[in-house]
Amino acid sequence: MKYFTTPIYYVNDAPHIGHAYTTITADAVARWSRLRGDKTFFLTGTDEHGLKVQRAAEENGITAQEQADRFAVRFREAWQLLDISNDDFIRTTEPRHYTAVQKLLQACYDNGDIELGTYEGFYSVADEAYVTADEVSELERLGRSVISMEEENYFFKLSRYGDRLLEWYESHPDFVQPDVRRNEALGFIRQGLKDFSISRTSIDWGVPIPWDSAHVTYVWFDALTNYLTAAGYGTGDGQFAERWAGATHLIGKDILRFHCVYWPAMLLSAGLEPPRHIYVHGFLLVGGEKMSKTRANQIAPADMVADFGVDGFRYHLLRDQPFGPDAPFSYEGMVARYNADLANNLGNLLARVAAVVASKCGGVGPAPAADGPLAQVAADVYAATAEAWRSMAPSVALEATWRLIREANSHLEANEPWKSDPGPEVDAVMGDALEVLRLVAVLADPAMPRTCATIWSRIGLEGSPADVRLPEAVEWGRYPGGVPVVKGAPLFPRITA
Ligand code: MSP
Repeated sequence: MKYFTTPIYYVNDAPHIGHAYTTITADAVARWSRLRGDKTFFLTGTDEHGLKVQRAAEENGITAQEQADRFAVRFREAWQLLDISNDDFIRTTEPRHYTAVQKLLQACYDNGDIELGTYEGFYSVADEAYVTADEVSELERLGRSVISMEEENYFFKLSRYGDRLLEWYESHPDFVQPDVRRNEALGFIRQGLKDFSISRTSIDWGVPIPWDSAHVTYVWFDALTNYLTAAGYGTGDGQFAERWAGATHLIGKDILRFHCVYWPAMLLSAGLEPPRHIYVHGFLLVGGEKMSKTRANQIAPADMVADFGVDGFRYHLLRDQPFGPDAPFSYEGMVARYNADLANNLGNLLARVAAVVASKCGGVGPAPAADGPLAQVAADVYAATAEAWRSMAPSVALEATWRLIREANSHLEANEPWKSDPGPEVDAVMGDALEVLRLVAVLADPAMPRTCATIWSRIGLEGSPADVRLPEAVEWGRYPGGVPVVKGAPLFPRITA
């Protein structure tokens, strides 16, 4: 079983394209997994407790619960707009989550890893994290509010887990990917780990500590547990073990320490295994900077969809933002990529094929030849595409898939079927081109499900590419022929910037 998760997003703010990036990537990977026939469960959701949300509610003159309700809807709507295929949407204010958080807390407590202590120091509200005196001036320079506080807190005894974490990393070399992030996490662990605070008495917007209701859980212990809740931990859901064994988290680099250091230690303490994989990506930079509320440089997904369509936007994020490093996000870059790959390459291929089938083949698609000249390229492209999806490299996967489109366009240009008389030669060229369109509809489906379903029906196929299974579906020669091919409106009209 494959269990893919995104971070759960704070409800202090509206969804922006940075959130969309992680969510679309996880969606595409989950769709690829379903195409492979793997049992797949895909989770996203919202992080609703903590000071940050409470403050946003105060600014908006509403209760924290109202703030959470309003903004959770905005995330749900954004993901619907973007065709996100999540199987569950978790909100940390749900009763099932309270049950799971309390169960995990109790397990760690019973194991002796949670102790009472006094916290005296600074807290960054924006990061929902305790910070050192050295970090305060830098955070204040960035306009992030830092408060000083002293209160009785429960602490998780992270300091006991250094060796066990190092052992885990050693025996699971692909636990955290890519390697630079793995090394970053190892660096944190080797520096020596400090216990961290997991509860607060000064706020009440959170899950109560089961053995001491004067305290509520500090937001990261609460937030991380969402992955267990949705898998069925604490609610007696029989699927829990199977789901948890396949857990793969996708996260941004900003939350690496919590996921790659705190989280595995918490799980080990409770007698659970850490997740199978954590994939860490960089930021989309707008004008060279990370998007944030304070910088007011956030871009809403809906604005991009208005200009590029859902699939134009999805394709851009997956193709142009290699998973791993930071990458600049630019409107000009989006226009260039859209025109080159979508309007010209893919859009043109479909339009040309439909036009020639209409004029030379009576509107009926011919079958491909068993050993068509593009069969070998198609096999190579499939192998490269599959390997790239497997290793969480959507940009590489799409680059590989687009090679097949370019080869098919070149094949058409070399044969110029539009200049020939109808007959077996034209049919052979068109059968091969239709087979390429069928294969591309399958291979690009995780990135552009809507477009691929349109291609599928225009070339006369029943159902949708999401219904097929790999690898059988990409065997050369499965396009049946003898089915109607429909000309339609351009898939991707050219955009002038
Ligand atoms: N609520 C916590 C996560 C808890 S997970 C148990 C949180 N929320 S957040 O709303 O701030 O979202 C953080 C995540 O959004 C990042 O890890 C990343 O996945 C995504 N991104 C936010 N800004 C981004 C960019 N500019 N670029 C790419 N992804 C970004 O932290």
